[in-house]
Amino acid sequence: MATNATFPPYEFYEGDSIVGIDAEIAAAIANYLGYELQIVDMEFDSIIASVQQGEVNFGMAGMTVTDERKEEVDFTYSYATGVQVVIVPEDSAIATLDDLAGKKIGTQLGTTGDIYSKDDYGEENVTKYGKGADAVIALKGGDVDAVIIDNEPAKAFVAENEGLKILETEYAVEDYAIAVSKENTELLGKINAA
Ligand code: ARG
Repeated sequence: MATNATFPPYEFYEGDSIVGIDAEIAAAIANYLGYELQIVDMEFDSIIASVQQGEVNFGMAGMTVTDERKEEVDFTYSYATGVQVVIVPEDSAIATLDDLAGKKIGTQLGTTGDIYSKDDYGEENVTKYGKGADAVIALKGGDVDAVIIDNEPAKAFVAENEGLKILETEYAVEDYAIAVSKENTELLGKINAA
C-alpha cells in the first residue's frame, strides 16, 4: 500500500508506525484476502505513478476519485466522503468562498484542494506545500491567508494549533477510494469483494 502519512486521522505516524483509518481498513482487507500488508510512505503526488508502475499493489491515502485520476488508475468502491474546507485565522475577514478572491491560499501539493483552487483563484495565488501541516504553519506565520484541505485533517490541524478556525462553507464534496493499476482488475475485484 502506498500512502502519504501526513493526513490525520486517515494516515499518520504513531512512533514509527503508520496508523489511521486507511491503515486499519487496509489491514482488514488484507486479512480478509490472506495477504500481508506492507505500507510504503511517499509524497502524495507520487502515489498514482507508483501504482501505475507496479511498485505497489494499491494506493490508499484519503484519495479523491476524479475523472483525471480515473484515466490513470482504477478506483474501488468509495469507502468515505471527504469535504474540502477552508482554514483561516480566527480573526480573519475571510468568511465566504468569494472572499478568497485575490487572497493567498496554501494547499498540499497535488491534492484536489490544490488543483481546484488553482482553477478557481489563479495559480499565482496558490502556494503548495509538501505536507498539509506545513501549509497550516505558513497560515499561522501569515505567509498565506487561508488553507484549503480535507475536513478531517483540517479538524486535526485546528485542534493542534490555537487561533485557527474552519469556515462553515464547504468548498467541494468528494468520494475517497483505493487506487489500483488498470492492469490489475483481479485485485480491484478482490478489494471490492472484501
Ligand atoms: N482528498 C485529497 C486528494 O485526493 C487529499 C488527499 C491527501 N492525502 C494524503 N494522505 N496526504 O487529492
